[in-house]
Amino acid sequence: MGGPDAQPRPTSSLGAEPGATSLARNLSWPHLVAMGVGAIVGTGILTLIGIGADKAGPAVLLSFLIAGFVCACAAMCYAEMASTVTASGSAYTYSRVVLGQMAGWVIGWSLILEYSLVVSAVAVSWSGYAAPLLRDWLGLPMALMQGPHAGGIANIPALFIIIAVGALLLTGAKKSATLNLILVAVKLSALALFVWFALPHFNAANLEPFSPYGFARHMGPDGVERGVMAAAAIIFSAFYGFDAIATAAEETRNPKRDLAIGIVGSMLICAAIYTIIATVALGATPFTRFANSPEPLALILREISQPGAAHFLAVTAVLTLPTVILAFFYGQSRIFFVMARDGLLPRGLARVSKGGAPVRITVFTACVVGTIALFFPLDEIVALANAGTLVAFSAVALCMLILRRRAPDMARGFRTPLGWVVGPVAIAGCLYLLASLPQSTQIWFVIWNVVGLGVYFIYGRKRVAKAAQGDDTES
Ligand code: ALA
Repeated sequence: MGGPDAQPRPTSSLGAEPGATSLARNLSWPHLVAMGVGAIVGTGILTLIGIGADKAGPAVLLSFLIAGFVCACAAMCYAEMASTVTASGSAYTYSRVVLGQMAGWVIGWSLILEYSLVVSAVAVSWSGYAAPLLRDWLGLPMALMQGPHAGGIANIPALFIIIAVGALLLTGAKKSATLNLILVAVKLSALALFVWFALPHFNAANLEPFSPYGFARHMGPDGVERGVMAAAAIIFSAFYGFDAIATAAEETRNPKRDLAIGIVGSMLICAAIYTIIATVALGATPFTRFANSPEPLALILREISQPGAAHFLAVTAVLTLPTVILAFFYGQSRIFFVMARDGLLPRGLARVSKGGAPVRITVFTACVVGTIALFFPLDEIVALANAGTLVAFSAVALCMLILRRRAPDMARGFRTPLGWVVGPVAIAGCLYLLASLPQSTQIWFVIWNVVGLGVYFIYGRKRVAKAAQGDDTES
């Protein structure tokens, strides 16, 4: 690494960076908490609970707790970093500032994987709830609403919702954030309704045997990887999304305070919601009935003879899951934006419209994630997204620890309590979850990173060095 920007940046200059390409500051903490809850509550509880139950049985409850605990530790590290380094770009920016340019690139590359694939995954999950409605209401054939893995041709509704959300994003962050606030309220009401109808059917016998597939990840005789940890590695995606908040740092009025409130607040709210929903769901119906269903919560309501409520929940999922897509799509465009602005990706991509939206990045992202959503199955997309996230979260915890040592007196909007315990626990937990992902996912993740390093050495590194020379000349 020889470029002038190859070393960690001085920690005295950790603010939003000046430049021609900057974003308007029009968000505050209620927007951020809503953005967090909007980004977090989604596929994980609405759909992945079925895949998780298939892998762990009722012990998927334990998977939720493990994944939630690791994610909470990471969230605190994130909050500390977000309240210290208040430039957009989340883990990418923290790593670049604290660990150096190349580490920043590797983490940015992981984030691109996370954000893109979550958009695709949630779109597929959205389609899981939307397809039966579209079939019943409009007579659309299921073959055009499912990917080849499920016996269809292509998942066209998933592509449609990605294009719709991308178009919404192009209208500007504030308007999107306000709409997000309303949709989050609707989503929480639907989940409350689920508890209202399902709780009276709670039967502790449905939780027996509690852990039919054991704890550690192992290959089942049917070729499916099972165990509490295999489920936790997938369920992990239910908890993240708070990091999307940190990508909005440059659009936040009081970033040091608002980002910490947004991250920790939304994480705590969601952990409480999941524990309640998962316990009620598993108690209301034997897990084998809804394992692997594309719409498990609606199915549970039908199983307990509440078809009206099931219908309502499906409609609500269709209306509100786009909030998750919105948050991750937004995060993705901002990561791209910052990486392009830094010269690691083509700078032309970072150009913003008069309204402040990065148009080219949004259109490019929609094309890529839309294609993935058309053809790939949910569990595989989620597993790969989680690999990127787990690496990014480990890096953030590491950055938090290094910065504590390197700049102990620096002003922090939020300090992780017991930071020297929470940080290492976050790193170890993320790495254990990474090791619990399916083997095929781990192989794809290595391939993704090899490609990423190739792009870095062939393109990014030289461009950043050139850009830095240009900046030096200008100053
Ligand atoms: N936490 C988000 C979800 O569950 C990614 O959909």
